[in-house]
Amino acid sequence: MRAAITAVGGYVPEKVISNKDLEKLVDTSDEWILSRTGIKERRVMPDGTATSDICVEAVNQILEKRGISAKEIDLIIVATVTPDHVFPATANIVSDKVGATNAWSFDISAACSGFLYALETGAKFIECGKHKKVLVCGADKMSAIINYEDRNTCVIFGDGGGAVLLEPSTDEDGIIDSILKTDGSGREFLHQKAGGSLHPPTHETIDAREHYVHQEGKTVFKFAVTNMAEVSREIMDNNDLTGDDVDYLCAHQANLRIIDATARRMELDDEKVLINIERYGNTTAGTIPLLFWDFEKKFKKGDNVVLAAFGGGFTWGSVYLKWAYNS
Ligand code: UT7
Repeated sequence: MRAAITAVGGYVPEKVISNKDLEKLVDTSDEWILSRTGIKERRVMPDGTATSDICVEAVNQILEKRGISAKEIDLIIVATVTPDHVFPATANIVSDKVGATNAWSFDISAACSGFLYALETGAKFIECGKHKKVLVCGADKMSAIINYEDRNTCVIFGDGGGAVLLEPSTDEDGIIDSILKTDGSGREFLHQKAGGSLHPPTHETIDAREHYVHQEGKTVFKFAVTNMAEVSREIMDNNDLTGDDVDYLCAHQANLRIIDATARRMELDDEKVLINIERYGNTTAGTIPLLFWDFEKKFKKGDNVVLAAFGGGFTWGSVYLKWAYNS
């Protein structure tokens, strides 16, 4: 039995921060950001809101679209690196806020690959017959961990995310294959130094700004370009797919140059490469569900869709699915 995505939802906050706005905060320029990353603007959540609020918006859209009650949901998985609290899991908060009283729920922490990890995990509960309705969310309030005085990171990240409903496929459509990888030796190049059990919060860690995202961009870029392109090609080869066979690439939106390199390796025409990085920046676990949300109307039942991601950890991977519905 295959697990199929049967509905999608998404959410970005209203407040926009443009490249011009960032020019007032750090030594950068609209031209630099656009040419190096492809980003024009990103969204930021208001104070007093959290990652669970992104998920709740997306989940409620899904429940309405599918005409189902939250009580029918068996499992909720949230992929995020910006949980509402260190514990309990954000997924627990989401299940309470939407009224999913019959679901169990947990979080997955795999940075920018989080949505793929969560999708794979959720799919297994459908494939083995244990569950009928699994919600998989990918969302991040990156503004909570971004230093708006650090031009290396503040120009890239934004807030937002989305969710998908997984149900048993009634035919051949659904999730067909996946390749997921981890290399923990890359952890120092993209991480949050303090706040965990190794370096609990102290005045010193706060003064040293160790609760913000630390990224060595150039190194991460090199690993991202190579690994996202390789893993996407690998999943195509494993499934005898050529560039012509693939209808759409939904790649993690970290940098337009990384997406382009992946698309070239997959031998895809430009119109098959879905892109919204210019509007939202890098929303970490949120990028792939936000692509589904923005481009849902493009997908036709039976379309071959390849998902790809690379992120902190390092984590990376690719998923091959056949889209399961016309909207
Ligand atoms: O999402 C999961 C994983 N993350 C990624 O995939 C991100 C991967 N990395 C990247 O996308 C890119 O490395 C960045 C967008 C972060 C940076 O682009 P880059 O082309 O690798 O720039 P760089 O770090 O090599 O810096 C080039 C120059 C430097 O100046 P010098 O030393 O050549 O004089 C930087 O100081 O650009 C400078 N620079 C900036 N200038 C204006 C760095 N950030 C900025 C900035 N505005 N915001």
